[in-house]
Amino acid sequence: MSPALSLRRVDRRFGTVQALLGVDLDFEPGQVHAVLGENGAGKSTAIRILAGLDQPDSGSVELAGSPVRLRTRDSAVRRGIGLIPQTGSLLGELTLIENLALTQPRQLIRRRHVGETLEAAAASSGLTIDVDTPVRRLGRAQQQLGELAIMVAQGARILLLDEPTSVLDADEIHGLHRQLRVFADTGITVVLITHRLHEVRAVADAATVLSHGTVAWTGRVADVDDVTLARSMVGDLPESAPPPRQPIIDDADPALVLDRVWAATDDLAPVRDVTVRVRPGEVVAVVGTAGSGQRTLAEVAAGVVTPERGARRVTGRASYIPERRSDALLSGLPVKWSAVLPRLKDGRFTRFGMVREDAVDEFARDLLGRFDVRPPNPDLPAGALSGGNAQKLVMGRELDTAPAVAVVHAPTQGLDLLAAQRIRDLILTTAAAGAAVLLISADHEEARALADRVLVLRDGRIVGEHTAADYDHAVHRLVDVPLHEDGPA
Ligand SMILES: Nc1ncnc2c1ncn2[C@@H]1O[C@H](COP(=O)(O)OP(=O)(O)OP(=O)(O)O)[C@@H](O)[C@H]1O
Ligand SMILES: [Mg+2]
Repeated sequence: MSPALSLRRVDRRFGTVQALLGVDLDFEPGQVHAVLGENGAGKSTAIRILAGLDQPDSGSVELAGSPVRLRTRDSAVRRGIGLIPQTGSLLGELTLIENLALTQPRQLIRRRHVGETLEAAAASSGLTIDVDTPVRRLGRAQQQLGELAIMVAQGARILLLDEPTSVLDADEIHGLHRQLRVFADTGITVVLITHRLHEVRAVADAATVLSHGTVAWTGRVADVDDVTLARSMVGDLPESAPPPRQPIIDDADPALVLDRVWAATDDLAPVRDVTVRVRPGEVVAVVGTAGSGQRTLAEVAAGVVTPERGARRVTGRASYIPERRSDALLSGLPVKWSAVLPRLKDGRFTRFGMVREDAVDEFARDLLGRFDVRPPNPDLPAGALSGGNAQKLVMGRELDTAPAVAVVHAPTQGLDLLAAQRIRDLILTTAAAGAAVLLISADHEEARALADRVLVLRDGRIVGEHTAADYDHAVHRLVDVPLHEDGPA
């Protein structure tokens, strides 16, 4: 039997960057195939080509053994290939039904018909989704399941997922995995890009590691150990070298205070009566499932959203790394403008009221080099950076300014093993230099590894506080925490 989908000798070059070189890849029907590799390795480029969003310079795509030309996303969809991109593709203002209707403009759309198609597709693959709520009000996990249901409703037999789990918590990841298995068991081909080895073990039948645009390893997951996979991704992992930390002074004045804060926005889950204090040098983590108000809490702590009641107090300058890095980048402009953004008012970047582009250039080149943003080209549009490299840029830019307070949301999402380790070290270095760090994360392991204290957020409230040491046990009881449904006093 031929593979469901293949790349044959595919080359793709962007300017000076060889994103893919002679790549051969086969995806078998009824299997989950993980694609791994360091940031910038070419993973997204490969599946964008498979989904008709990009064309190879040479080589071809084969569908069930026959070459096909996929000139547009539509032509891929018509052949049963669906892609969930790294940043999601649904329109937030619309419901899932409306999003599906949008993809079928040439037919005379009857809303009821579209709704029935979508619900039937969801039911056939065991999905429970809410088809009538604007997408922006659904949690991340629900949005993704919705995208999958839309693709199945469009007749997809091949599903391409670009890092779907980087923003999900452990339970949601488990749910998605279960769903992917159901798809595979009905004969659908699933291609899953991820940076997490334990995820490969949990769900994938086969795996491929891309490295600098070529296939470094491919085979059955059962035949390979984690060390081999990790090595072929990023080479040998150096020991983590977190800086020595000063003991936190118990009665030091906090640099960041949220005092009985209530806040809500149209789009985001509210926070209710939240109190958080972070002292200089301290890392406080806030964990909780999606939809529990983490983004609102981050935006309040960063000063982006004003609380309805309660107060925010910050001593010194605050940096903010938002969950959606696109919010922090000027995507259409050369990378250097995103690199210099928080410092544009520095005297050295202006003269006679004009921006000194040469100084910006030099600064950006240095920053990209120090934080290993690849390619280190200040003139590349920021939107052309791979997901992980965009994340490195935002983290580096924000933490490089020696902030008094750093609000860091999902800092290692989308980072490869090595880059994630560097960013964790950078967070600890920032704290060691005296910053008060508020870390908002869905990743319990990361919270435990970095934080002095861990707060548990649920339905907008802090329902638990733990030291890093006792958090381990606490996390298993997360689901049993009692809730009180009282409103503002
Ligand atoms: N449109 C583009 N213009 C210029 N360079 C690009 C473009 N798209 C991708 N690249 C470059 O091609 C290389 C591969 O990028 P790709 O997005 O495929 O990496 P990736 O493996 O998905 O990485 P990540 O894990 O960070 O998402 C990177 O160096 C990237 O900067
Ligand atoms: Mg990518």
